[in-house]
Amino acid sequence: MILDFLLPYLREVHTAYQAYVATTSTPVLILTAIGGLIFTALLWAQIEQRLLKDPHAPPVVPYLFPFFGSMITFGMDPLAFFRNNQARYGDCYTFLVFGRRMTACLGPEGNNFFFNAKLAHVSAEEAYKHLTVPVFGKGVVYDVDNSILMEQKRFMKNSLSNDNLRAYVPMIVDETETYIQRWAEKSGSVDVVQSVAELVTLTASRTLFGEEIRSQLDEKIADLYHDLDNGFTPLNFLFENLPLESYRKRDAAHIALKSIYLDILKNRSESSTPSQGVDIINHLMTCTYKNGQVLSHYEIASIMIALLMAGQHTSSATTAWALLYMAEQPELIDQLREEQIQVLGSLDAPLTFDAIKQMPVLDNLVTEVLRLRPPIIEIIRKVVKPVEFPGSGYVIPVGDFIMASPAITQTDPKIYRDPLRFNPARWFEDAKKESAASIGTEADDVDYGFGVLRTTSARSPYLPFGAGRHRCIGEPFAYLQVKTILATLVRHFDFKLTAKGMPAADYTKMFILPQTPAMIEYIKRQ
Ligand code: HEM
Repeated sequence: MILDFLLPYLREVHTAYQAYVATTSTPVLILTAIGGLIFTALLWAQIEQRLLKDPHAPPVVPYLFPFFGSMITFGMDPLAFFRNNQARYGDCYTFLVFGRRMTACLGPEGNNFFFNAKLAHVSAEEAYKHLTVPVFGKGVVYDVDNSILMEQKRFMKNSLSNDNLRAYVPMIVDETETYIQRWAEKSGSVDVVQSVAELVTLTASRTLFGEEIRSQLDEKIADLYHDLDNGFTPLNFLFENLPLESYRKRDAAHIALKSIYLDILKNRSESSTPSQGVDIINHLMTCTYKNGQVLSHYEIASIMIALLMAGQHTSSATTAWALLYMAEQPELIDQLREEQIQVLGSLDAPLTFDAIKQMPVLDNLVTEVLRLRPPIIEIIRKVVKPVEFPGSGYVIPVGDFIMASPAITQTDPKIYRDPLRFNPARWFEDAKKESAASIGTEADDVDYGFGVLRTTSARSPYLPFGAGRHRCIGEPFAYLQVKTILATLVRHFDFKLTAKGMPAADYTKMFILPQTPAMIEYIKRQ
């Protein structure tokens, strides 16, 4: 019936369409088709947002185009995006990025909700596995049940014991002093991002990754690191596999680095004279799961790659920003030197683990860098069971990703005075180091399997190392590595910014480094 009624009209539309096609030039036809597609996309985006919206879900940041959503505004400056929309919608809102619904969880409540969310509700494994397995390998971190990851984190954490850290200080000093010999005699300029990345790789390899890795670093391993690194980008987060050169190189580098580690492990375990190294490999070779099973060589090799990826850019970003701020505020450099003289008697006395612990100016400098320039500004989980954002009535549906950004509380003017100013002295003055462990009581303590944590610490506004079951285990090493490099550099150089000034942040990477080239001038001290 309806078809009989519609048929004449459809025929007329068809005839008009044929007449239009016959009388219109090809470019105009193409433009009309594109216009039609854009119109349909715009219409669909409105239908999606107005008619298909879930009344219980958090508010959605309006967007013009479906699928792409807020991709451009978010990608250009995620922190500005978070702040602007927090002012409009509060601590919990959803936005669309490349077909994925992301729900921001901001403020102390958002941090607490995110980091203490139950395993039954949200999963880091579901959010990250496709990114990490091709790089780290199978059987570790996000490719295992969360209880196994907690055990693996215990192994990693225990390998960073105070005794090992104590032994690392002279090694880091030595690597740094050898490295700076390549700089000019009196003065010059360097791209701080590149130099620091090299220094962090050298110092981490010398301390954590073993002498075999360190000795091969200048030859092929640096290239393998580079190729693996290019497989750990936002593009890899969006697509596990693409027919691109960077993906092929990532896979080849993974296989090559894995086999280097497997050879090292084989040699060490077969050697009649056990390695005395204080690196992580030796520690992991002694580790046993609760069920009595020892870590396999394959697992150890995968963990080593995971640690490399977790520590390289985070420590590099922290050191690079620290040097830039020191170059911007040279009085900080004087203060750092005075502090060393106070603690050690002179700038010639060897730096030690215990001496570095007594240097609050240095400590506050790193703490302030991590407040203002935390290397990780988006932490993600996938929702696997509907979960309510506390006190809002919003239910975040299955399939959404939730995203925390402690960088927002760390720069909140309600919490930190003049929050966008780099001011390490604030940690002496108004804010008092907000020790996450001091929030709550012992009754709030929990051990997920890698040491006791205070659950309430997730309410702290200062969380550059995260909180909860996925909290960083690398913090003591990262602090020590960054501080030892900085303390060594100020013994030899003064720094100042070039005429280009302070670089902006590069938001195109997974870890937030300064945009390159990030040049600073160094002047060798007499
Ligand atoms: C986890 C930050 C250095 C190893 C994390 C997390 C953050 C973080 C925010 C939580 C991720 C999440 O919740 O999904 C940092 C910063 C560093 C640093 C700012 C330096 C300044 C290191 C180093 C290592 C390391 C040097 C190893 C030697 C890890 C590991 C995890 C982790 C194993 C656990 C991942 C998980 O449980 O899902 N880090 N990190 N990190 N970090 Fe670090």
